[in-house]
Order: sequence, then C-alpha cells, then structure tokens
Amino acid sequence: MKIHIITIFPESFSSYFSSSIMKKALDNNLFELNYYKLNDFSDDNFKRVDSKAYWMHWQVISAEPLSKAIEFVFDKVWKKIPVVFMTPSWDLLNQEKIENYYDKLNDEFIIICWHYEWIDQRIIDIYIDYCISIWEFVLSSWELAAQVFIDSLVRNIFWVLWNNLSLEEESFSKKLNRQKEYPVYTKPEIFMWKKVPEILLSGNHKKIEEWKLNNLT
Ligand SMILES: C[S@@+](CC[C@H](N)C(=O)[O-])C[C@H]1O[C@@H](n2cnc3c(N)ncnc32)[C@H](O)[C@@H]1O
Repeated sequence: MKIHIITIFPESFSSYFSSSIMKKALDNNLFELNYYKLNDFSDDNFKRVDSKAYWMHWQVISAEPLSKAIEFVFDKVWKKIPVVFMTPSWDLLNQEKIENYYDKLNDEFIIICWHYEWIDQRIIDIYIDYCISIWEFVLSSWELAAQVFIDSLVRNIFWVLWNNLSLEEESFSKKLNRQKEYPVYTKPEIFMWKKVPEILLSGNHKKIEEWKLNNLT
C-alpha cells in the first residue's frame, strides 16, 4: 500500500511511524509513506497556503496549492488515485468500515490533511472521494486523525502484525460477531483472590471456543 500525504507539517508524523509495529512494517516495505509539503505548491512569496474565508472570520486552505499538490501526485504515479480527506463530520469510522476502506484503498491513495478550520469547498467537490471522521469530537488538527486512520488500515496488511491470527479474532471482528473480545488471562493461576476460569486450564479446545463466544464483553 502506498500512501501519499499532502501536509503542512510532515514532521508531525515522524514519532508514531518511527517506533514499534509501524516502524518494522515500514522497514520491511509492507507499506510506504510519501510526504508532500503543501507550501511547496504555493505561488505566494511567503509560501502561504491559507487565506480568509469569504464572510467568515476563519482561515481556510486555498484551492490552488491543494489542487497543484494533488495533480502533482496524479502525474507522479501516472494515474488518478482515490483522495481521502479527514474531517470531524461525515463518515464515522468503525471496524467494519475500516475493512471496506482497506479493500478500496489497498493499492495507493492520497490523504490530505489540513490545519485551520476548513478547505475551499471546491477541492472537496472536484477531488475528494472519501471524507472520513475518526468519531464525533473535534481535534485541533488533522495529524492525529490521519495517523489513527492509517494505522487502522495498514494493520490489515499481511505480516504487519507479527501474529496475523490476532486480526481474525479481536474486538469488532467478523468472527466475534462485531462484539468486544472475551477476557484473557495468564500465569499465575491465582492472583490475589481471582482465579483463572477452570475451563481455560482444562485443555478442552471445543469447550474453550464455546466459552470464548459466551464471554464476549
Ligand atoms: C479544528 S478542526 C476543524 C473543524 C471544522 N471546522 C469543523 O467544524 O468540522 C481541525 C482539523 O482536525 C482534523 N480533525 C479534527 N477532529 C477530527 C475527527 N474527529 N476526525 C477526523 N479529523 C478530525 C480535521 O482534519 C480538521 O480539519
């Protein structure tokens, strides 16, 4: 999966994607992140990319630099690819939707991320295929939302998780009827006054599978 990120702050991505699971997956070329600094596409002498919205007090990202950046990526990859836009409103994510987005976006896509209040509506009308919200609350900027979305997508790529089985059977998975996962235990068998359920010590696979499905939280 190739992800093309158009942003004013590429550096805001570095910490999350330079450790643990995401770093290992990037090092093993299981997915690719390409950054495009939006200001590089501005004709303004000071490389500004925002301006005041008509009849409002907000700064919004102007259409021209965003359009140029998107067209630059289309030219670079020699085709039109889906364009994703993070926003608090519109399509609220859940696990089932992530799986659908993974099917639609698993080749390559552009994600545009912006600060300030909004972007010029004509960019949404002309270029955007998917407007995605991580849920109904407002963050100060796009970076966290985009990282949440990218992580939730790329973990579906085979070998990104060291144990691919954990994808199949976890909270909100199809196998668990989209419910929350069952409780899990490890040694010691008794911790304070709490004992590991007898069935998990029995070694009876069939009964343990039944127990798991009957104990979704
Ligand atoms: C202060 S918010 C802008 C809110 C926008 N004026 C509105 O009323 O919907 C700044 C940016 O953070 C990102 N963002 C904030 N909350 C988000 C969420 N729940 N899901 C996805 N993106 C979010 C979006 O990219 C948004 O443009």
